This record gives sequence, structure tokens and C-alpha cells, in this order.
Amino acid sequence: MRVLGVETSCDETGVAVYEAGAGIRAERLASQVEIHAAYGGVVPELASRDHIAKLLPMVENVLAEADITLGDLDAIAYTAGPGLIGALMVGGSLASSLAYGLKIPAIPVHHLEGHLLACMLEEAAPDFPFLALLVSGGHSQLIEVAGVGCYRIVGETLDDAAGEAFDKVARLLGLPYPGGPQLAALAERGNGARFALPRPLKNQGLEMSFSGLKTAMRLAIDSCRAADGTLGDEVRADLAASFQAAVVDTLTGKCRQALAATGLERLVIAGGVGANRALRASLAELGRRTGVRVYYPRPALCTDNGAMIAYAGWCRRAPGAKGLPRNVAKPPWPPDELTPP
Ligand code: KG4
Ligand code: ZN
Repeated sequence: MRVLGVETSCDETGVAVYEAGAGIRAERLASQVEIHAAYGGVVPELASRDHIAKLLPMVENVLAEADITLGDLDAIAYTAGPGLIGALMVGGSLASSLAYGLKIPAIPVHHLEGHLLACMLEEAAPDFPFLALLVSGGHSQLIEVAGVGCYRIVGETLDDAAGEAFDKVARLLGLPYPGGPQLAALAERGNGARFALPRPLKNQGLEMSFSGLKTAMRLAIDSCRAADGTLGDEVRADLAASFQAAVVDTLTGKCRQALAATGLERLVIAGGVGANRALRASLAELGRRTGVRVYYPRPALCTDNGAMIAYAGWCRRAPGAKGLPRNVAKPPWPPDELTPP
């Protein structure tokens, strides 16, 4: 069975073909960084327009690379939410129309389920159940995953998501959009012990909070500015490294507590912040200390991509599904509303 996956929830267009037994046959990703950089963040209208312009050529390229044609597809999966409504509508409409024309099912996929299951595309895939640390631009959640569609949120952020905090602090440091990866790169050169920043809600249950840390960073940054308002290169790198260390410590502590509270023995890292090298190293160390097995998909499977949507769609395939496709764009959509396929 071959499933085409279409991801257009935010500022990346992702298309991939997943084939049962063979894995990902081909994939393409188009970033909109250059389009949004001038505005310092994602402009939803521009995101939708770019998805429209890029999607069909990308579908053609992916099919050509997989050496198949539209007629060889058995289903088309698309991100139905959460995400930007206009951007979701582009992918959903294209996927539904193609599926209608081809008389095959269109499968709406929950974006976070895509992230949660991306680890299954790696050779060393975890068995269920596992604890997932899902850290993206819009979400920071600890989720007990008992199987496909069996998700229990055991902890989440009370305010900003971890990726959002990375992006906002990057902006305070004068780094261009998208800030998270830029801040991480700067942090590699800095001293993470130079600034004593808070570890929010440390040892206080499984909830997280990053907005106070952001304020602490704002104060630290302002206290380091020269008379003309500028920041030296070294101090910027140290500020970035100290912030990254605070986030990594906090997330590692929350994972340790959640593993102890749930008794789970596998930890999966999912979402864009999961691409962060320092976080991966810290969680690997947690695994070594506790005997918990830690799984992290390669960075390209942590950030948004079409492959995870194609795979999640395959997990939710309903053989012989009939009827007109309904394009269900659901901008907010809590993952624990999902049920098994
Ligand atoms: O999962 P994702 O690609 O999109 C969402 O579903 O939100 O996550 C994007 C988030 C952004 O906030 C981005 O700054 C952050 O992940 N991110 C990183 C890194 N790479 C991406 N944050 C820290 N370090 C990174 N290397
Ligand atoms: Zn995402």
C-alpha cells in the first residue's frame, strides 16, 4: 500500500510517499524561511500562497523520484490540524481533490500524531508504550503513548511552548527568524554556566512554564547591553548558551519525573526542538543514568515534514473506505481527542 503525505500546517511544505514494507520512497520539503524572514515571523496569508504555488510541482517530483504515477497511490494523507487555517485548507483541498479524482481515500491526519509516530520511520523504532516529549513551536507536552491513537497528556506547558521560547529569545538577541536553530547554533560557542537563569517549576509536578524564563532572559540581556544598546559577540553566545541550558535542564528534569511517575521504560523525542543537539545529548545521558531507552528521530524527522504525515495516514488507513472526502481543517485539535483507528 502506498500513501502520499501532504504537510502544510505552517511554514513548510512537505510531501512524501510511504510504502508499507519499503518505508519512505521519496520526499520533498520546501521551506518558506526567505518569505517570512523580512517580517520576523510567519505571515499566514503568504504561507498559504506559497503552499499553493509549491504543492503540485512537489507532488510531481516526489512521484517521479519514487518511480510511480498517481494511479499507483492507494490513499492520500494530509495534515488536517492543528495549524494555520489557510495553510491547512491548501493541503487539505489538494489532497481531497486528488483523492476524489483518483477514487481513493483522503486521510485527515493530526499534525502532532505525525510528530509522535515519526520515530517509527527509523530502523530502531520503539515498541509501545512509550513516553513522548513533544516539543515544537506550538506545543510542549509529555504524552503517554499506549498505541496509535491512545494518547494521554501527562504534563504540558502552562504558557509558551519550548520552541516559541527559543524563537522569542532569539529575537531578543537580535537573531533572524526562524530563531530556534539560530539560537542553538550561537549557543554552541557560548558558556552556558555564565548566567544563572531559573529552571521554572523544577520538581513541581509535570507542568512546564517558559514565559518567566523569557522575562529573566530579557532582563539579563538588557543588563549586558553596552551604552549604545549593542551586545558583544561573546556575551551574546553566553546568553544563548545559558538560555539553552535552562530549557534543556528543565525538559530533562520533566522527562525524568514523568518516567518515574508513569513507570514507562522508553522515551521518544518528537517535534522541532527535538532537533536541538544539547537536548538530545542531555536526554541520552538521562537514559544512560536511568536505564530508560531513548529514541530520537533524525533532525529532519523532528521538524515538520511530509514523511511523518504519510506514515501516520498509513496507520489510520481504513481499507475499502468509501464516500466523498470531507476536508476537515481543525486549527485547534487536542491530541487526546484522538481514538485508535
Ligand atoms: O515541529 P516544528 O518544525 O513545527 C511545529 O509544529 O511547530 O517545530 C518548530 C520549532 C520552532 O520553534 C523552532 O525554532 C524549533 O522548533 N527548533 C529548534 C531547533 N530546530 C527547530 N529549537 C531549538 N534548537 C533547534 N535546533
Ligand atoms: Zn510540527
